[in-house]
Amino acid sequence: MNKGQATPIDTATTLYGVFGHPVAHSKSPLMLNRAFREAGINAAYAAFHVLPGMLEDAVRGIRALGFRGVNVTVPHKVEVMRYLDAVDPEAERIGAVNTIVNEQGRLTGYNTDGIGYVRSLKEETGFSPAGRRIVLVGAGGAARGIAFALAKEGPARLVLANRTAAKAESLAEDLSGLCASAGVSLDQAADELAQADLIVNTTLVGMHPHPDELPVDPSLLRAGQLVSDIVYTPRETALLKEARARGAAVHGGLGMFIYQGAYAFEYWTGTAAPVEAMRQAVEEALGAHA
Ligand code: ATR
Repeated sequence: MNKGQATPIDTATTLYGVFGHPVAHSKSPLMLNRAFREAGINAAYAAFHVLPGMLEDAVRGIRALGFRGVNVTVPHKVEVMRYLDAVDPEAERIGAVNTIVNEQGRLTGYNTDGIGYVRSLKEETGFSPAGRRIVLVGAGGAARGIAFALAKEGPARLVLANRTAAKAESLAEDLSGLCASAGVSLDQAADELAQADLIVNTTLVGMHPHPDELPVDPSLLRAGQLVSDIVYTPRETALLKEARARGAAVHGGLGMFIYQGAYAFEYWTGTAAPVEAMRQAVEEALGAHA
């Protein structure tokens, strides 16, 4: 097959998909189909609206129909783990799976969200987390994936700042064997935020349709910091605008989405992901909201 050319779906086509509820907004089909086309792989990727209560049957369908791989999104990332044959130890620690690989009927679950975030951070900003002070705002599912991936990079200190302090403390405890970590209430995080080299918003505060909301007091942001946001609608959130206005470097959330898909592509195909083509596909699709 010629690289870059669409191929018709035929009996040799390898099938992939994403399971979610809702799933109609997902940009994964556009992004992954562009990746397969760019790499010259005869594959097709579709979105499946899997209702709560139907997930176990849907996972059985992966085996029965011989799908090579599936992404799993909200709200199924935790429940899906119990229907798989194996879960990667890192995904087990995070407590969520977003990528399933089917090896001849044996399903293994991985989590590529956190490692996708870190690859995006490094490749798009050049920031190296080793030896740096990092504050994550939030302590939910997204924070867990990012925190475990950053902890492996050897930061000097990793602080979770969350509205509900108990969740931040619990995640800090889970990280304690990997790096120096602490959990604090968002209200009490001013000193930590002011001293941080990297601040990451892992909450959805600031996402459309509430683009004016800020997850932290912007007066704590300053030059010399890198401020990163997992939200990518709008592409530049109010947090990043405030950070930029105060002289901080900024990192938007689109890269995390692209690189979590890039890792999934690489696990499934064993081929380097065509990241720039994937980015272009997503940017075209998001154009209206940029
Ligand atoms: P996700 O998987 O996207 O991380 P989640 O597990 O529901 O979703 O976690 C959402 C995170 O955003 C939590 O840290 C939540 O704080 P609480 O633990 O206190 O609920 C945080 N969050 C949501 N809305 C928020 C708001 N308005 N202000 C501050 N934090 C908020």
